[in-house]
Amino acid sequence: MSWRAMHEETSNTRLLGPKSPAGAVHESLPPLLPDERDVVRLEQPSAMPVDLRELIGRRRSRRRFQGGLSLAELGGLCWAAAGRTESGRHTHPSAGALPGTALWVAVFDADGLDDGVYRYVPESHALERRPWGAPGRIWPALFVDAGMALRCSCAFVFTIRPAETTAKYQGRGYRFLLLEVGHMAQNLLLAATAYELAACPVGGFYDADLDAALGCLPGQEAAVYAVLAGAREEVSPPCA
Ligand SMILES: Cc1cc2nc3c(=O)[nH]c(=O)nc-3n(C[C@H](O)[C@H](O)[C@H](O)COP(=O)(O)O)c2cc1C
Repeated sequence: MSWRAMHEETSNTRLLGPKSPAGAVHESLPPLLPDERDVVRLEQPSAMPVDLRELIGRRRSRRRFQGGLSLAELGGLCWAAAGRTESGRHTHPSAGALPGTALWVAVFDADGLDDGVYRYVPESHALERRPWGAPGRIWPALFVDAGMALRCSCAFVFTIRPAETTAKYQGRGYRFLLLEVGHMAQNLLLAATAYELAACPVGGFYDADLDAALGCLPGQEAAVYAVLAGAREEVSPPCA
């Protein structure tokens, strides 16, 4: 079975609610080299002194958000999920070390960054803004739990581009890319835990609508997983 058939067989389609938000974006795909004004260079993340056992134990899917992310946090999450190490290697295991996955960030609220849809560029550790403006009100409706998407400050979306991986591994390449994205998402979730943020992995979204909102070329790139994140809601201490 081809990866597309498998993907379509398991896609959520929207039965009710708003129409596809950005059906036309494919026609206006951005140039390969974006305007320099749309490129946000991120700082390399600073040291994270963590006890791995304690960090893994503290990770939870948190769905209550309060406030935006800082640019340093955003950069740290992107780096953990999809960045490059000092020796130029992927931070995550990658099937055949091929360019089969990508990370996107829809920013609703982050200090020092305009709201917008960005593609993370691992090689330069930068975010490239897509020309279709701020994510807007339609974005939460791309997720089955629209309420959670409305409250988060950033939606990290993992896409796969199976052409090269399936050329090498045939249909099994689709599996490999899903596994690879799982590694990436876990890195992101652990980094969010280290920063004491709230983050929740999300597989519940409307496939074609989310692909269209990102500007994925149909049949070539598809969203497969997301993490919604934001500052952690502070819990008031109990009254004395
Ligand atoms: C593949 C996958 C998809 C998930 N999709 C959603 C989702 O769409 N919405 C949601 O609220 N949580 C989602 N979760 C989070 C799980 O509900 C959560 O991991 C589980 O309840 C265990 O809680 P914990 O992560 O705090 O250990 C998903 C988790 C995984 C692994």
